[in-house]
Amino acid sequence: MRNPMFVYDEKLTDLIFDYCRWRLSLDPVPLDYGGAVNESLVASLEGLMTEGGVDPAVVMELFDKTLATAVVSCDSPKFLAFIPAAPTKASLLFDMVVACSSLHGTSWIEAAGPVAAENQALRVLADMAGLPEGAGGCFVAGGSAGNLSGLMVGRDTAAYRMGDLLPEHPVVAISEEAHSSVGKALHVLGVEALLVPVEDHRLTGHALRVALATHSRGDDVIAVVATGGTTNAGIIDDLEGVADVAEERKLWFHVDGAYGAAALFAPSVRERFRGIERVDSFVVDPHKWLFAPFDCAALLYREPRLAKAVHSQDASYLEVLHTDAPEEWNPSDYAYHLTRRARGMPLWFSLAVNGTDAYRDAVETVLEVTQEVADLIEATPHLELIRRPELSVVLFTRTGWDKADYEAWSDRLLAEQMGFVMHTTWEGEPVGRLALLHPDTTLELIADILATTA
Ligand SMILES: Cc1ncc(COP(=O)(O)O)c(C=O)c1O
Repeated sequence: MRNPMFVYDEKLTDLIFDYCRWRLSLDPVPLDYGGAVNESLVASLEGLMTEGGVDPAVVMELFDKTLATAVVSCDSPKFLAFIPAAPTKASLLFDMVVACSSLHGTSWIEAAGPVAAENQALRVLADMAGLPEGAGGCFVAGGSAGNLSGLMVGRDTAAYRMGDLLPEHPVVAISEEAHSSVGKALHVLGVEALLVPVEDHRLTGHALRVALATHSRGDDVIAVVATGGTTNAGIIDDLEGVADVAEERKLWFHVDGAYGAAALFAPSVRERFRGIERVDSFVVDPHKWLFAPFDCAALLYREPRLAKAVHSQDASYLEVLHTDAPEEWNPSDYAYHLTRRARGMPLWFSLAVNGTDAYRDAVETVLEVTQEVADLIEATPHLELIRRPELSVVLFTRTGWDKADYEAWSDRLLAEQMGFVMHTTWEGEPVGRLALLHPDTTLELIADILATTA
């Protein structure tokens, strides 16, 4: 008798598809509660892992009523903390195709179709950044994985670039405002960071040049990381100035655009990214502001052959992956991973069916609303705007509030399902932070939230 786990089950399929259809139809998606639930989730899960299995309807009921509400929906227009998400309907639906087809994208001989399609989506992103024809890479799980994989190539190819100038103990220059994953990546790689002081929270070519000339480890720098949209405040580094220094000093130039580089789609701010076309490696996360489902980060290299030399895995059983096929492209050769889901496919499908103009418009809408929110804060006497937003993060203070006040405000907003808002730290002080990303996040929605600070 066949094992029933592998037999198509109409009832189970309906149960799941009905749920998915319902979830997709929610407009807007409710915010829900995350960890702010009263019941014990551990207790509610008791008894589910049995020898004989539990009725799927019972398990789904538990998921729907208890677990799914213990998630703050990051695709709700009211999710304004950290970095939200806003996957398009087409991308979510195609994610189901990826799942139901067990679509993988490790190598050309196994999965040429999805790999060709993922590369088509990567090419759109490479064109947005102005990278040359031969540029390429792969989709990885997130910005953190992309930063690690890109910097690994920077470290391991330094000898090739720098020749006799290669330091014995290499160092990577980063800004104080670089994302925490960059520091972690350097730790994993066993490379120290040279922290370049920022000028008005921005890494500049000038500050980098001064640091290289004056810091005791300046001559040991082999690479530099700039950020195309800091997470805390959405500030874009001086990419052009940093690119100049990187070129002069033969440094690997990596840009972490995990959050902000989606704005390459927006003509209104494209100029601020000048210099990004000169990167050696570059990360942008479609699962953030390019409206793809988790987990989807794009990692691109100017010269993918360098990445291939670093990331290809050598094993006798893998030798067959490398053939003479003219179009061969093995995503496993371009990051620290091997087996991988074809995670770029939902983005590919959504780009194909919606067109890039819809992406441009969605990003521009968010940028516009962000400016309106900033105007509103400037016009509100008890609120102070910290700086004009460059992208879609707004920082502000409420006169007289300390950290505990911001926390109490966040709790209240979530309890009343008005919004999910977290504070952050700016120049040592607690400040309010609103991260916009969903094109359905309106000025009115945020005005209601801000009105509760009165
Ligand atoms: C600038 C930047 N880099 C890297 C990351 C890490 O990305 P992920 O969470 O996808 O690993 C983030 C996340 O917010 C980010 O904003």
